[in-house]
Amino acid sequence: MQFFIDTADTDAIRELYATGLADGVTTNPSLIRKSGRDFKQVIAEICAMVDGPVSAEVLATAADTMVEEGRALASLAGNVVVKLPLTLDGLKACRQLSQDGIATNVTLCFSANQALLAAKAGATYISPFIGRLDDIHIDGMELIREIRVIYDNYGFETQILAASIRGPLHVKESALAGADVMTAPPEVIRALATHPLTDKGLATFLKDAAAAGISV
Ligand code: E4P
Repeated sequence: MQFFIDTADTDAIRELYATGLADGVTTNPSLIRKSGRDFKQVIAEICAMVDGPVSAEVLATAADTMVEEGRALASLAGNVVVKLPLTLDGLKACRQLSQDGIATNVTLCFSANQALLAAKAGATYISPFIGRLDDIHIDGMELIREIRVIYDNYGFETQILAASIRGPLHVKESALAGADVMTAPPEVIRALATHPLTDKGLATFLKDAAAAGISV
């Protein structure tokens, strides 16, 4: 499973990339706003820092303009993935950009039928939003399971990118459901490595090593 970092915070990206555990980055207009940075400038900076895919979202709502914006974003760096909303216009733009050889991430997916359409439009990634479904008391993980079955039934190559991940449980369940990629905020990725029994066990080992005078 690939791990993308869901942020436009370049310091956090640099820190997590240094662990070797991250494979790419996703952003959205809200995350760009939170960063307080210029959109294209921050995307170009992230693309220079990481060698994996970096999703950058179009802002237009009409297909033709989405395609223009997508081409402009793709020209920023070779690893830009153009993020498009799951609307009919977004799917039309996805088809065009995919035909041009530009990688696409169809976002704001909340149903299996939407995911089916994105695959038919040639999307590189489909982003089902788990947390936002959970927020309205719909099982977000069930959507990942449904998309996995549908894509496997027909051999679609579109990768399932589990998004709107809110905690470690979402990561584990997405992996069990067969998502190809998950994108999560830096704090969630850091939390994956922690367990109270690990901390407790390590403290005991270090205490015993010191008491025994052991060194390496
Ligand atoms: C994914 O690409 C989105 O940027 C993100 O996962 C949305 O997460 P949220 O629902 O927590 O805002």
